[in-house]
Amino acid sequence: MITAVIGTGFIGGTLGRAFARAGHPTVFGSRHPGTDGVAADSGATTATVVDAVASADTVVLAVPAGAVEDLLTVHGAALTGKLVVDAANTVTGPVAHHADLVRRLAPGARYARAFNTLGGENLADPVFDGVPADLFYSAPEGDRAALDDLITAVGLRPVHLGDGQQDTVDGVLRLWFALAMTQGRGRHLAFRTLTR
Ligand SMILES: NC(=O)c1ccc[n+]([C@@H]2O[C@H](COP(=O)([O-])OP(=O)(O)OC[C@H]3O[C@@H](n4cnc5c(N)ncnc54)[C@H](OP(=O)(O)O)[C@@H]3O)[C@@H](O)[C@H]2O)c1
Repeated sequence: MITAVIGTGFIGGTLGRAFARAGHPTVFGSRHPGTDGVAADSGATTATVVDAVASADTVVLAVPAGAVEDLLTVHGAALTGKLVVDAANTVTGPVAHHADLVRRLAPGARYARAFNTLGGENLADPVFDGVPADLFYSAPEGDRAALDDLITAVGLRPVHLGDGQQDTVDGVLRLWFALAMTQGRGRHLAFRTLTR
């Protein structure tokens, strides 16, 4: 199983290096692969976006929200049969995820919503007093194992909310923003589910 991470900034870089360091074959899709040092010493490789998508089973979108539609327009057909993991947030409108865009522009792809509900600091440093934070996600049942592996690779505890539950996941995103930003608690804030 090869994972491509498209977008080599804060979120893409943090995720892709963690995947690779945990032993998952990972390729970054970059607009400047020859000079992009995102992989560092993680064991990941760096390629063009076209080549990264072509080689992967799972494609993580970690680009700015404004780039998602163009990216899907260009690469939508190449995503057929692959799992698209949407980590991008459109924070300027009522819907932060891109499930509808993926359905329209990459109709042959499966869709998951993950890695979008916490500030990136918590993806880089996910353990609080020895306890890993939860990462809530939505994905088809058949993709749960793959997502659980990638989330665990980052050091978070995966919590599956079901398939097609991107709006529920994005409710967690809104809660994070309300606490971390609006209420001023700061970006080093995450969630843990308690059960009995
Ligand atoms: N920052 C957070 O705490 C956080 C948390 C959760 C989710 N997110 C979401 O994650 C996404 C990425 O955020 P970020 O903070 O990582 O941003 P960032 O540091 O600015 O990185 C964005 C990356 O996307 C690349 N990119 C832009 N347009 C592209 C395109 N058309 N094709 C391929 N690559 C492209 C940029 O590459 P170039 O070097 O070529 O410009 C850059 O590597 C956003 O949608 C954001 O909402 C962010």
